[in-house]
Amino acid sequence: MDIISYVSDMPKAELHLHIEGTLEPEMMMALAEKHGVVLPYATLEDVHAAYNFSDLQSFLDLYYFGASVLREESDFFDLMWAYLVKCRQQNIVHTEIMFDPQTHTDRGIAFEVMMQGYLGALKQAEAEWGQSSKLIMCFLRHLSQASAFETLRMAEPFRDEIDAVGLDSGELGNPPEKFTEVFTAAAQQGYQCVAHAGEEGPPAYIWGALNSLNVTRIDHGVRCLEDDELVEQLVRDQTPLTVCPLSNVRLCVVDEMKDHPILAMLDKGLLVTVNSDDPPYFGGYLNDNFLAMVGGLGLNQAQAKQLAANSFKASFLDEDKKVQFLDALEAF
Ligand code: HPA
Ligand code: ZN
Repeated sequence: MDIISYVSDMPKAELHLHIEGTLEPEMMMALAEKHGVVLPYATLEDVHAAYNFSDLQSFLDLYYFGASVLREESDFFDLMWAYLVKCRQQNIVHTEIMFDPQTHTDRGIAFEVMMQGYLGALKQAEAEWGQSSKLIMCFLRHLSQASAFETLRMAEPFRDEIDAVGLDSGELGNPPEKFTEVFTAAAQQGYQCVAHAGEEGPPAYIWGALNSLNVTRIDHGVRCLEDDELVEQLVRDQTPLTVCPLSNVRLCVVDEMKDHPILAMLDKGLLVTVNSDDPPYFGGYLNDNFLAMVGGLGLNQAQAKQLAANSFKASFLDEDKKVQFLDALEAF
């Protein structure tokens, strides 16, 4: 099998995907029309032209603006459904999906409206083709810890449907320590904990996520390479890093795909995985990330298989489910 077919068809998990970041320009424009939201774009080309980011914040400005077209339960359903169909097409047999409640509740959308839409699509995909999934509720780090606590409280009726809490949005100036108490409270309620760290922020933010937030997985984490002691610990503890190659190129974390350190990280023994982050904004879904690594980094079949195995190992699945998926990958 050629490498393009191999990476496209191999079974894999995705662990770092923001559902609000899957909003395709077509859906953004259709929902804007439906709700009478005026967008500063006349055509799809205008939207694509705006996807020319200089850093994380320049993306976030557009991402939050785009999410403002999501209003009704069916909008949240349609958004989630479209991503789950991609999972089926790309053989993403398990996905751990991040969502940002504050982006909606701060606009007066009820937490329940958002959740019913998302959960409806997840249940339908599970019923129709056995899609496996988990949900990660993210706190926006540019907002206060009090707001994060309020979000944790709103999630109480959905405790059994949400598996983990995370931390996203503008990293610089918003260190993990700002959220120590809310992560402690979430852990006491039984949530798994993850956080974005070391995307634009320094290695100190990765140390902070590990030591103050007690996370068991780091989102991005590429800047760990600047700190040998940190790399040593991440390798020793096999702490997963959910790396997003196309995102890193588009947000100028690295210059070009050929400069991306993901394969060097794999060689060091870090438990790295490949993820798409916000696919339409960054130029592609999970398979597009693997294909960009084939083109830019010469990714080979053994490396691709290792990355897919890591995606199952790094997931929050039960051990027996992990073994089932790993056996299927082995047989592929
Ligand atoms: N980083 C931080 N916040 C985000 C991202 C990201 O890559 N995507 C969506 N919210
Ligand atoms: Zn992210």
